[in-house]
Amino acid sequence: MIDRYNKSYYEQVCEIFFETSSVKTFSSLEQKDAFRKKYLDDYLNRFEEFCFVALKDNQVIGYVICCPMTILDKNLLSVFSYYEDKEEFVAQYPAHLHINLSAHARGMGLGAKLMYFLFSKLKKNGVNALHVFTNSKHPSFNFYLKYKFGVLFEDPQTHLVMMGIKF
Ligand SMILES: CC(C)(COP(=O)(O)OP(=O)(O)OC[C@H]1O[C@@H](n2cnc3c(N)ncnc32)[C@H](O)[C@@H]1OP(=O)(O)O)[C@@H](O)C(=O)NCCC(=O)NCCS
Repeated sequence: MIDRYNKSYYEQVCEIFFETSSVKTFSSLEQKDAFRKKYLDDYLNRFEEFCFVALKDNQVIGYVICCPMTILDKNLLSVFSYYEDKEEFVAQYPAHLHINLSAHARGMGLGAKLMYFLFSKLKKNGVNALHVFTNSKHPSFNFYLKYKFGVLFEDPQTHLVMMGIKF
């Protein structure tokens, strides 16, 4: 089942956030807190209505978080260096998401279900295109390709890739 995010889910969402994070070790608690704030808390606090959780037996097994209008968010754009010189794409694909499922919940269509819940919410709010950043060597690249995202930009050295979809 999919539910709108609310604060009662926070601890469980945090667990999945760190389970799925590529960064596993932190030099201090402050560094860990800052990392969580940047990639999770700011989205949950500022765009709560665009965040959803997937539940099984009342437990959170995945989530999607989203910024609906990235271009207006000058602060966010400056915090993430990969946005440099991407204004044109951001204007065309205004929303962006981060999506993560617990390991046991993958490959069963749940990621797509969460994503389509978000698309529907965005559409109701007049936003009909979204971008993501990932890496073309990462398994998530195939997830986005499968659900018809196109490649907007790829860095030939790092394989950082920006993808977009209109819905
Ligand atoms: C990427 C992710 C959100 C996809 O959700 P999902 O529910 O597993 O995906 P779906 O079942 O809706 O779609 C399956 C497709 O996703 C892709 N995929 C990516 N990672 C996968 C995984 N770990 N297991 C299964 N499929 C995966 C495959 O292309 C698959 O298609 P196929 O079965 O035809 O090969 C999820 O696997 C996940 O959270 N992975 C770990 C964290 C992550 O990579 N987050 C995204 C960072 S940009």
